[in-house]
Amino acid sequence: MMVSNLYTLLVILCVCHLVFSDAGCPCNDKYADISKRPDVFESSSLPSQQCCLPTVGNGYLATVVYSDTIYVNGIYNGRGGNSHRARIPSTAAITVSSKTAIKKQSYSLSVTNGTFYHRIDTGVALVEQRLYAHQTFPYILINEIAIQRTGQVSGPITFMLTNNTRNGSGDVEFGEVVSYDNTRMMIGETVESETSESSTVSIAVNWTAIPNHLSLPADDKYKLWTFITAIGLNQKSASKLYAHGVQLATTGVLHTDHVKAWEEKWNHGRIEVDDLNLAKEIYGSMYYILSSLPSLNYYDQEFPFHFYGLSPGGLAHGGSGLDYFGHVFWDQETWMYPPILMFHPLLARVMLESRSYQLDAAKSLAKSRGWKGAQFPWEMAFSGSEVCPADIYSLQENHINGDIAYAAEQYLSVTADVDFLRNSRGYEMIADLAKYWESRVVFNSATGLYDIHGVMPPDEYHSNVTNSVYTNTVAQLSLRLPEYAGKLINVSVPSTWSKIADKLVILYSDAHKYHPEFEGYTIGTSIKQADAILLGFPLNQKMERDVRYSDLQIYKPVTDSDGPAMSWAMFSVGYGDVGSFQERDEMFQRSQKNTQQPFHVWTEFPSGGGAINFITGMGGFLQSVLFGYAGFRIHQEYLLFDFNLPNGTNTFNITGLNYLGSEIDFVADVKTVSVTLTNQQDLEDGAIKLRLVAQSGATYSLVKDKTVILPRSGWVKIENVLKYQRP
Ligand SMILES: *[C@@H]1O[C@H](CO)[C@@H](O)[C@H](O)[C@H]1NC(C)=O
Ligand SMILES: *[C@@H]1O[C@H](CO)[C@@H](O)[C@H](O)[C@H]1NC(C)=O
Ligand SMILES: *[C@@H]1O[C@H](CO)[C@@H](O)[C@H](O)[C@H]1NC(C)=O
Ligand SMILES: *[C@@H]1O[C@H](CO)[C@@H](O)[C@H](O)[C@H]1NC(C)=O
Ligand SMILES: *[C@@H]1O[C@H](CO)[C@@H](O)[C@H](O)[C@H]1NC(C)=O
Ligand SMILES: *[C@@H]1O[C@H](CO)[C@@H](O)[C@H](O)[C@H]1NC(C)=O
Ligand SMILES: *[C@@H]1O[C@H](CO)[C@@H](O)[C@H](O)[C@H]1NC(C)=O
Ligand SMILES: *[C@@H]1O[C@H](CO)[C@@H](O)[C@H](O)[C@H]1NC(C)=O
Repeated sequence: MMVSNLYTLLVILCVCHLVFSDAGCPCNDKYADISKRPDVFESSSLPSQQCCLPTVGNGYLATVVYSDTIYVNGIYNGRGGNSHRARIPSTAAITVSSKTAIKKQSYSLSVTNGTFYHRIDTGVALVEQRLYAHQTFPYILINEIAIQRTGQVSGPITFMLTNNTRNGSGDVEFGEVVSYDNTRMMIGETVESETSESSTVSIAVNWTAIPNHLSLPADDKYKLWTFITAIGLNQKSASKLYAHGVQLATTGVLHTDHVKAWEEKWNHGRIEVDDLNLAKEIYGSMYYILSSLPSLNYYDQEFPFHFYGLSPGGLAHGGSGLDYFGHVFWDQETWMYPPILMFHPLLARVMLESRSYQLDAAKSLAKSRGWKGAQFPWEMAFSGSEVCPADIYSLQENHINGDIAYAAEQYLSVTADVDFLRNSRGYEMIADLAKYWESRVVFNSATGLYDIHGVMPPDEYHSNVTNSVYTNTVAQLSLRLPEYAGKLINVSVPSTWSKIADKLVILYSDAHKYHPEFEGYTIGTSIKQADAILLGFPLNQKMERDVRYSDLQIYKPVTDSDGPAMSWAMFSVGYGDVGSFQERDEMFQRSQKNTQQPFHVWTEFPSGGGAINFITGMGGFLQSVLFGYAGFRIHQEYLLFDFNLPNGTNTFNITGLNYLGSEIDFVADVKTVSVTLTNQQDLEDGAIKLRLVAQSGATYSLVKDKTVILPRSGWVKIENVLKYQRP
């Protein structure tokens, strides 16, 4: 993304005028999150607006709780720019209500359990409803409803059920619903394929019929009902998946296996602070991104599926006319990916593979436009071809090709995973991206340097510019990447690419000691979002403190105050880098304004408008925690950290950070940072031995379960002592 006013206008005109209106999502004031736990979001009443409701998902399927729709990874309907997630009528939206008076009720999302709960207490009985998208067996959505007798009354106790299915889908043509015992099946086919070459997709849903009431028989103390929705690509698979769900339920492990898998995820990746509101924001952001990604045992699945990438609203959003239609943009690599990479490299690889899987489509796109190598579309859905509805972005937002390369570079720096290079077309993709830029640059004989013309930078208020400083920088990184990747797998790389990289224009103004956004940019010109300041972070370009500071000072006042939340997160990181802590904290506060009570869903705009649930903004926010306050920086040969405490906190812990296959825990307080290697997993060739090198020059070996305590000031490097013995 993001989308300029022009695109918004197009969307308003052509698709749906309701969705992008600024009416907002006014859930904030009325419904407070009353839970005192950082990992539980709770309210005694449910906001009526769907935009305020939380989501459950697992990378294969997802839904907004109580909504009438389920979406499935990779199931899109519509041609070209109209391709959007296909609506599957929800067979899992069950509302429990009581005929008798309710003493107390609550709606809560436990992110550590990955479960949404509705609890009702009538004084006579307690009802607990759990809704979850199974974490280890991703093909099923489950409602469990338990009634427990608590009062002295001995007769049957009845609760009413209603469903929110909303018959029909403009996206999938379903045949007649088939009934068998208490199960139902619907089988359908998407209406229109994404391209003339791709085909429509079939889908089958097998679910437990939803009665209009549940009764706990007289004298019974407790009863649990399980409602399963299984989604497969055809009747046979849906029925098999349903049967597997039933088996898990029968053996009593359905929910416990699910909870265990989520706990496992959090044990290997958690950020904690002792400020409740901030802690909730962090937990919520991680949860919403993770619940749109596959589980950690993705590669062990008995029934594997291909993951098609993360879109700005997550998997539970993105239908026709909504939330960027579920398309995948640079949001995936630049915004959501880095925090995932630091904890779950396996999921980072899955994200990169959502690109390398579509490499052939990207090669075709490059070819059709007269370029070499591979050009990824600005917006991607099912087929890997361009599904952006407007040419201006599609033709000009070329930085996506550098963004993907940079994500791959960070992956290799953090994991040294040569299997990705060899067996997931990783190296081929990296080389094809360099080839693309090689064909995209133009030699300027007047300067003796290479230019890039005709691009739209991340700042979408400007188009058709020359030498966008952000675009050229990611192009340069992309042109240099094959050499680094090639070394890991002993492939020799043509020297042309690094030669071009060395002579690619990276604009810099000596007079004002700053980076002009593009050729002809004048100080004071309004921009949409963080752009040139991204050179400092996330692109890690070396520069003097003065230059970093003037970039921040020059661009902050001209950045659209209604622009996306990631801008403020990046200003926060930048001001932290230059030691302007007041501004760092102000920008950090500002980056969190898009969160909505009570379930910490994010909207694209702070007013509540725009795309929901805006996980792009959450990605930026998490980066300002990890790479800002905790000061992590990924370099090819080492990882840096430099802990600062977020304003208002006294302890700041990071658990399960992953570096070169090892896991490391950090506990920071006012005075010290304790570093513990908790899990050492040797790389393929065993060439791994980590140590810490402090700014003072002191070094410490990292030995499993031996905590190293350092003063909390100055940077510290984590490096592999044996790095030069690889590959
Ligand atoms: C929802 O309720 C309606 C009306 O009772 C019923 O026809 C429909 O089949 C139900 N949907 C599901 C998914 O059970
Ligand atoms: C999470 O699930 C476990 C097991 O079902 C349960 O005991 C616990 O209360 C749940 N935690 C929350 C916060 O709901
Ligand atoms: C949905 O369709 C079923 C039969 O196909 C019908 O009985 C039911 O009334 C419909 N529900 C709604 C809400 O239209
Ligand atoms: C749903 O799946 C179960 C388990 O395989 C099967 O017994 C049942 O017949 C299926 N339901 C329908 C309506 O096909
Ligand atoms: C961080 O870890 C330390 C040591 O285990 C603990 O005392 C502290 O409470 C933790 N802080 C948070 C916010 O969890
Ligand atoms: C971009 O600018 C160039 C040079 O100014 C011009 O020739 C070209 O027509 C422009 N292209 C578009 C798509 O506006
Ligand atoms: C790297 O490749 C070269 C030439 O292809 C070969 O001679 C050399 O033995 C290889 N080195 C390793 C470590 O595999
Ligand atoms: C920290 O927050 C307090 C109030 O919450 C504020 O007064 C103070 O200025 C903040 N400190 C910085 C460095 O921003």
